[in-house]
Amino acid sequence: MKKIYPSLIAAKLLEAKQEIEKLEQYCAGFHLDVMDNHFVPNLTFGASFVNEVARVTTKQLFVHLMIDNPFEFLDQVKLKKGDILSIQYASMQDIPHMLNAIKKKDLLVSIAINPDISLEKIYPYIKTLDQVVIMSVKAGFSGQSFIPETIKKARALVAYRQEYNLTFDICMDGGINSNNIQELAHLGVDSFVVGSGIFNTPDPLMELHKLNTLIN
Ligand code: DX5
Ligand code: ZN
Repeated sequence: MKKIYPSLIAAKLLEAKQEIEKLEQYCAGFHLDVMDNHFVPNLTFGASFVNEVARVTTKQLFVHLMIDNPFEFLDQVKLKKGDILSIQYASMQDIPHMLNAIKKKDLLVSIAINPDISLEKIYPYIKTLDQVVIMSVKAGFSGQSFIPETIKKARALVAYRQEYNLTFDICMDGGINSNNIQELAHLGVDSFVVGSGIFNTPDPLMELHKLNTLIN
């Protein structure tokens, strides 16, 4: 079963609880983009908002850190076993130490790579990872256009996983919508983060149903 994670950055934040209640039965969980206005030039929310979301839904949370100090965040956030913590490759100073800290908290370990980072960079850590996020836009903003060259990267990662008999989840994040999701699912991508492709449509619930039908 392929998975969709609506990205709350694109929702009306003051109505986040209602949006979550409306969509939660029909998605794998919710994606939360944490940005610090330093690692990326945009500021969203921090651990206290993520903790509030955790209070109103039992769904899996998929937290995507685009911040300079992921360790600090890890100390402040209260996630549950099996939630996903994804860190941008370029924000980590000591990668094994960081991945180990995530694992110790019983969270799923994920690395996100921007379009300009090659897959080879993450292969040394691949056996520790539960998920790889191929960023299909440059991390920082919702509503950007999908970068078509990232399809090649997804294909290469699917082939690598098969060659080495590995089972990590392959996710794409950025510019995903009803025009491209089916092709990506067919080539072997397992999970999709969708922000504007759900929330910037007239009826987010209908759109989520449509996306689910396209991939499963
Ligand atoms: C971009 C974020 C994405 C974003 C996706 O930096 O990591 O998760 O929310 O939004 P859309 O789907 O609008 O590109
Ligand atoms: Zn994200």
